[in-house]
Formats: sequence, structure tokens, C-alpha cells
Amino acid sequence: MAKRSNKHREQDGSAGIVPASAEAILDAADRLRTGKLVAFPTETVYGLGGDATNDEAVAAIFEAKGRPSFNPLIIHVASLDMAEAVAVFDDRARAVAARHWPGPLTLVLPRARDCAVSLLASAGLDTVAVRVPGHPIAHALLNAASRPVAAPSANRSGAVSPTRAEHVGAELGDAASLILDGGACPVGIESTVLDLSRETPRLLRPGAVTAEAIEAEIGALEISDGSDGISAPGQLASHYAPNAPLRLGCTDPRPGEALLAFGVQVPSGFERVLNLSETGDLTEAAANLFAHLHALDAAEVSGIATMTIPDEGLGRAINDRLRRAAARD
Ligand code: TXA
Ligand code: MG
Repeated sequence: MAKRSNKHREQDGSAGIVPASAEAILDAADRLRTGKLVAFPTETVYGLGGDATNDEAVAAIFEAKGRPSFNPLIIHVASLDMAEAVAVFDDRARAVAARHWPGPLTLVLPRARDCAVSLLASAGLDTVAVRVPGHPIAHALLNAASRPVAAPSANRSGAVSPTRAEHVGAELGDAASLILDGGACPVGIESTVLDLSRETPRLLRPGAVTAEAIEAEIGALEISDGSDGISAPGQLASHYAPNAPLRLGCTDPRPGEALLAFGVQVPSGFERVLNLSETGDLTEAAANLFAHLHALDAAEVSGIATMTIPDEGLGRAINDRLRRAAARD
């Protein structure tokens, strides 16, 4: 989307990218309360937020993302108390929330009886996805707005999630009335999505809170393979695609190809190389994943080859995102 001039920004009240000062956070909260969209950093990725109780604000999010409307949004709140006004918590939900909130875990739970969240935000489902983010800027914003905020990752549907304010500006242009700049997102990969709305807990999306950590608290999980339609509607195969074609687990260079490397032993012959983690640290790799994909994509290479990432812990979340990025329709 083309960026608009500062003159246009002033005319329609769009402030562009601003450092997340205390004053800017209060301005952002005011904007949310009046139905405007605001992009903000979380510990995972940047979100495009709107008042979750305002149907028009939620519709504006879908419009800005170009997102299929059957794809429900995550509701962000400042505290467990606020989450309990939105969703019904059982003992399992309380246990994982107590352990991992604030933090990169989203819980899918039955909607509370008097839940104020727009039905559009949960795409007409009788469940709602809720999380308490751990990032101090997100936390201050949610506190100041004092209402649930619906926020998908702040990218166009099907594109790579933004981990820096500049990514949001380039993806969404003026669709956000304000982009709070809080620097790079420390986790760099979207939250774990855990469905606790049914008897057997189900992992819908792997993330920084691992299946192993959850199983240690509430017992065995079913792991969704993304093929079961509505229970994991966000798991469209090509959800995370960059423009350049991706080849997974490849170390034989093709002409003009870039390499997304991992570890100390990096093959030669590639046009460009970015290393997710030279020391083979999966946490560092997750934090770099989307920023490196953005950078290699922007370098207009003929394709991107990726080295093998160990399929354990956070590596499972990284491999999940890479498989989606490689699956072009
Ligand atoms: O880390 C994150 O979760 C980021 C930041 C901004 O918080 N947000 C994010 O939102 O990744 P989004 O909209 O890009 O992904 C939401 C995921 C999708 O896979 C969606 O289908 C799933 O959560 N989801 C939301 N509500 C659901 C529900 N009621 N049942 C099942 N899945 C749901
Ligand atoms: Mg997303």
C-alpha cells in the first residue's frame, strides 16, 4: 500500500509512527475509545488493535487486513479479571493463565454469558480467544483503554507478521490511525493458541509457550494439524507467505537464491545469507524469524532456502511458520 504524505496524515488525523511515550500511549487509548485503529507492540508481534466491543472498529480491522471474515480475532485484556468478563474459565484455564499470563499464550474458551465482545470479532463462534500480553507498552495501553481490544497481527492477510513498527507502516499504510513504536518485539513469533473450550485441550498454533510446558500443567494435548476447518480457522495453509518462494531444509544454492541460515555451519554460494542464530539458540531464532524473512524478501532474491531447524520446543513453532510460508496456495 502506498504511503501517504504528512499533509494527508494531518488532514485525516493519522499520526503515523510515533515513539511509545506515556503521552502517546494515552493518545492511542483515546483513539481506541473513539473507534479508531491503533497498532501497538506486544512481546510476540505488532497488533492492529480496535475496540473489541465496537462492531465498526472490528469491521475496520477486517477491512484493513483484507482478512476473510470467518477468521476470528484475539481479544487482548490487561488482567485475568478482565479476561473473566469475556470468557468462561475452568480450573485448567486458571492454571495455565496463572502460570503464563502476562505472556505469549492465547486461550480459546466459551464466551461469557454477558460478554461485551462483538460477535464479528469471534466470527460468530460461541468461543472467544483471549490473552493478557506481557509487553509493558501493550499493558499500559490496555489499562488506559480499559476495554478489551481485538488485535490480529498488524499485517495484510497472508503476509508475514510485523515485528517492528516500520513493518507495520509498510504493510498497512494509514489503516492504523497511530502506530506506537516500541522497537523490535522480543519473542518475534505469534502467541501459542490453546483451545480449552472442549474436553481434550488442543494446541491450535504452536508458539513460545510450548506444548511440553502446557502438558506439564494440565496433561496431554491434542496437536492440531490445521486440517480441521473451523476449530483452527486461522490456520490457512499460506498464512505466512513472503513474496519470494521458499524451499525448506535446502543447502544447495539455486541462482540468485538467499539463505535463511541457522547455526554455525553455513553453506556457501547463496546470493545473501541471514542467520537466525549463529549459536543455534531457538529463542534468538524465533525473535529474528519474521524480520529476516522481511529483509530477504525485500532484497528481491529469486527465492529463499532455509536450513533445517530442530523440531523441538520453540523450533516447532518456527517450523510451523516456515511450512506455512512455503505453502503457496
Ligand atoms: O501473538 C499474537 O497472538 C498476535 C499479537 C498481536 O497478540 N496476534 C495474532 O492474531 O497473531 P491473529 O489474528 O493474527 O491470529 C489469531 C489466531 C488465528 O489463528 C485465529 O484463527 C485463532 O487465533 N483464533 C481466534 N479466535 C479463535 C476461536 N474462537 N477459535 C479458534 N481459533 C481462534
Ligand atoms: Mg496473523
